[in-house]
Order: sequence, then structure tokens, then C-alpha cells
Amino acid sequence: MRFFLITNGTFMSRILVTGSYGQLGKCFQAVAKEFPKHNLLFTSKQKVDITKSKSLEKIYNKYSFEGIINCAAYSKVDKAEIEIEKAYEINEQGIQTLISFAEMKNLFIVHFSTDYVFDGNKRIPFKEEHSKNPLNCYAQSKLAGEKILSRANCSHTTFRISWLFCPFGSNFVKTILKLSNKNEEIKVVNDQIGSPTFGIDLARTVLDNITQPKFFHFDCYHFANKGEVSWFEFAKKIIEISRRNCSIKPCSTSEYKTIAVRPKYSTLDSTKIENHFSLHIPDWENALTRCLKDII
Ligand SMILES: NC(=O)c1ccc[n+]([C@@H]2O[C@H](COP(=O)([O-])OP(=O)(O)OC[C@H]3O[C@@H](n4cnc5c(N)ncnc54)[C@H](OP(=O)(O)O)[C@@H]3O)[C@@H](O)[C@H]2O)c1
Repeated sequence: MRFFLITNGTFMSRILVTGSYGQLGKCFQAVAKEFPKHNLLFTSKQKVDITKSKSLEKIYNKYSFEGIINCAAYSKVDKAEIEIEKAYEINEQGIQTLISFAEMKNLFIVHFSTDYVFDGNKRIPFKEEHSKNPLNCYAQSKLAGEKILSRANCSHTTFRISWLFCPFGSNFVKTILKLSNKNEEIKVVNDQIGSPTFGIDLARTVLDNITQPKFFHFDCYHFANKGEVSWFEFAKKIIEISRRNCSIKPCSTSEYKTIAVRPKYSTLDSTKIENHFSLHIPDWENALTRCLKDII
């Protein structure tokens, strides 16, 4: 990685963050001040469109950064079944555009993908190398993006994450809180199990370790908060911690039909990143408590 020497004698890395106004992008914005050694250039889709090399060229000519944290994505799981081309345009061709640019300018790429690349037929937490078999168009387009990035001739790594939640944007935690304001009872599926990822913990982990030479040693890491839970149990805990007066009832996936098929089990095994960086990722209940403190 190249560094800029700044006036007080310390080194600083300048990194472009794409899709900065989505959920994860906002998590990077929220923790950025904790990492003054990184000069993060936060950009919206309007400023930097990852499908357009000219927009990358324009911002690079102005700021000359060393790498890209790509938070940009097409992330609408159900809508992707209809907008298939759009999903691939952003999640595959967009990544190809980033790669071509990064290879030309010798930049690194940090990218994010999803637990939905797995089909959920296993009942043990998924490791990075487990075989992929995405069940819906969104996940197929994300896997296509992962695959081209894994062949790129620039430093790169992909964080596969799951059930992202944070105080920003719209996510399950915020939806349950909103629904609990208007309903005495909410039905939530009890037969999909996974591992929630707190975006703030993820953003901190990336920024804390990105300058280590070994950061790009592996081309994929799983990152989720510890433990596994069904959406029903997750919702119950949200209501319990936030002390809302609302009853959460279990239902099955077949009772709650969605356009896209989702895996029944997609817990991620995050042991590899924990061992590689000597981390201890907090469990999902701890993360949820911290998240709710920021929301309520
Ligand atoms: N959310 C989850 O539960 C979850 C789970 C697993 C993995 N992930 C992955 O985590 C990453 C972050 O997800 P997220 O929930 O933060 O997504 P998000 O909230 O939808 O944010 C994505 C951002 O990218 C922007 N964007 C879309 N097309 C773009 C383009 N061509 N150029 C630049 N920016 C563009 C979007 O802008 P507009 O909104 O204006 O289109 C949005 O601000 C994604 O890679 C996603 O696949 C998410």
C-alpha cells in the first residue's frame, strides 16, 4: 500500500469509499473519526457510479487514492428477481469496472458479499471455501462479482457478511421497531437461521486492519457476529431489549411468502478472520444492544 506523509510526521492512507450513503457506507462514515490515519473519501452513487469508468477516472484525477472500499451494490433481494439485468450491471459489471480501474492504477479493492451465496442445505456454519449454490438472482449476481474479483490482478479481498443491521438505512432491526409502534403482534419466520452482522463492528474491523500487509492474504473472509439465531428469535430480542409492548409470534417461511427464495440456514463461520487478525468478534446480542442504544 502507498501512503501519504502528512504534516505531523505520520502516514496516512487515502481510500475511496463507494456507495457511502447505503447502510454499510454510513457505518464507515460513523466510525471514520476513530481512524484518523485513514483519509476516507465518501462518495454517493451520483458522485461515483461504479459502472462508469469515467466517474472513477474523474475522482482519481482529483484525489489520487490508494484503494477502494466498495460499499456500492444492488441489494434488493426480492426486486432482483425482476430487475435481473440491473442486479448484474451493478453487482458483476460494476465490480469488473472497479477491477479494470484498480489494475490500471495499482489500487486495492475491499468488497462485500452475502451469506446468500450458500444454499443453506448444510447445518454447520459455512466456511469461506464451502461450495456455493445461490438460490436467488441477487445472490447469483453477488457470486458473479465475487468470482471476477477473485481473479483480479490487484490486491483484493471480499468480506462475506449476513443479515446486516446498524442504526442507519432500513434493516430488520429498524423494521421490527417500526412495526412494534403500530402492532400488538408481529409474525416472524422461525425457520431461517443465520448470523446477524453489525455494520459498525465490520467497519471498525476493516479500518483497524486494512494497512496490515497480511490484510490481502486471503481473497475472502466471513464476518458475522457470534452465535446464530432465527429471524423470530432476533425479533424477540429486539423487542425485549427495547422494552416494547409487542408480541412476536413464530411462523414458517411457507406462511410468509417472498418473491426470492432464501436459504433456510446461512450461519457464517468467522473463525478465519478471528485467527488471522487475533480478533474476538462480539456476539450478536451484545452487538444488538449497542445498536439499539444508538437508535432509541
Ligand atoms: N443488507 C444486508 O442485509 C446484506 C447482507 C449481506 C451482504 N450485504 C452486502 O453488503 C454490502 C452493503 O449492503 P448495504 O445493505 O449497505 O446496501 P445498501 O444500503 O443498498 O447500499 C448500497 C449503496 O450503493 C449505492 N449504489 C447502487 N448502485 C450504485 C452504483 N452503480 N455506483 C455507486 N453506488 C451505487 C446505493 O445507492 P441507491 O440506494 O441510490 O441505489 C446505496 O447507497 C453489499 O455488497 C451487500 O450485497 C448486505
